[in-house]
Amino acid sequence: MSSAPRAEPGRLGEPLPPELLDDAERLTAERLRGLQLDRLRATLRHAYDHVELYRKKFDAAGATPDDCRTLEDLSRFPFTTKADLRDTYPFGMFAVPMADVRRVHASSGTTGRPTVVGYTENDLSMWADVTARSIRAAGGRPGHKVHIGYGYGLFTGGLGAHYGAERAGCTVIPASGGMTARQVRLIQDFQPEIIMVTPSYMLALLDEFEKQGIDPRTSSLEVGIFGAEPWTEEMRREIEERAGLHAVDIYGLSEVIGPGVAQECVETKDGPHVWEDHFYPEVVDPHTDEVLAGGEEGEVVFTSLTKEALPVIRYRTRDLTRLLPGTARPAFRRIQKITGRCDDMIILRGVNVFPTQIEEVVLRVPGVAPHFQLLLTRRGRMDHMTVRAEARPDAGPERRRAAAGEIVQGVKDGVGVTVDAEIVDPDTLERSLGKLRRVKDLRAR
Ligand code: DLL
Repeated sequence: MSSAPRAEPGRLGEPLPPELLDDAERLTAERLRGLQLDRLRATLRHAYDHVELYRKKFDAAGATPDDCRTLEDLSRFPFTTKADLRDTYPFGMFAVPMADVRRVHASSGTTGRPTVVGYTENDLSMWADVTARSIRAAGGRPGHKVHIGYGYGLFTGGLGAHYGAERAGCTVIPASGGMTARQVRLIQDFQPEIIMVTPSYMLALLDEFEKQGIDPRTSSLEVGIFGAEPWTEEMRREIEERAGLHAVDIYGLSEVIGPGVAQECVETKDGPHVWEDHFYPEVVDPHTDEVLAGGEEGEVVFTSLTKEALPVIRYRTRDLTRLLPGTARPAFRRIQKITGRCDDMIILRGVNVFPTQIEEVVLRVPGVAPHFQLLLTRRGRMDHMTVRAEARPDAGPERRRAAAGEIVQGVKDGVGVTVDAEIVDPDTLERSLGKLRRVKDLRAR
């Protein structure tokens, strides 16, 4: 982390005035639970009646939709996984006739077939509503200009943010990802208050501002709505200081809807509130599948409550977090900022390591830029990790040498494993264009 003084936060960052809360945000927790149960029962029925895979799975588990009398009864129903969507590729889990599907998106995934998701007209409208609600929670107001740097296309980021910002009464600047120099120019010329982009691409934009000799803190941006990949509190501080804006977290995944499943409120910055009137969260132990009581860390699982084209029942996200009570929106539970995915976890000589844990260490070391990669190699029969991080331009040879040692020590103390660290020249590591891949696995398969 740099030692620069904390920039004045933007003007925005005030709690939402009550008149801008939507109806669901005014519900008491009790009323919300009642609404959830009604919607859950209807969703289970819809899924069972219209999707063969659900019918077979429910029957095999001996659970019929009518068995769900309380929200807790949901735990009697089977999980849905990404494999279910792959096995029914492309449209086998759609619960409405194809003529009623207005749009599809797909997530590329790392292996095999993409997963395809579909939306009816009502689904698209609900998605715009929850994303608009997210933008308001982040500080956005009607009349603001929103620069959207999430990729447009099959990825849900660009179009999801786009229709949400329009629904919120904002002016959309649909920049999409890439052409970084042009993005900086657009921001300078159009003066948006809000930017929506992955945190790793925000870093690339900040570098480009500086390359063009512009202090990003003088830009019009006041709020950044960052998501689509894990990022840490250290990264929040780094971005807030360099950009002079409020950095808030937006969470979502295509199978559940896209961005807008959960959103952090700007006045508290204490983890995203789940928009529970549409998405019901549970946290389960990823190994035993047991539902965990409030507050324990595990894999978050979502059941959609209003979706028509692709209802999802107990969808296993692979994302690790815990459920916490609501704060700025008391009726809605929060998730703790996502620390990583089950699939991101590296097991290094028996120790579980998440890239976010390394991020926490690297961003605290003076002289090191927030750009790093994790290289996995095999030495003999042992796996080995090298943290390759970029020097800041003002870091001389001595600082670089010391920084490498500080990273090794920080990882040893904080994570409990021995790694190597290598400090490379500024501007040499690959930059993100959207979702960043931190880990380079060079182990022979
Ligand atoms: O990434 C949707 C999205 C777009 C969310 C823009 C936010 C902003 P997928 O491509 O299906 O959808 O990837 C979903 O990304 O399961 C998480 O592992 C990760 N993810 C999304 N948001 C966050 C976040 C979009 N705020 C997968 N923090 C999810 C950490 C996130 N991880």
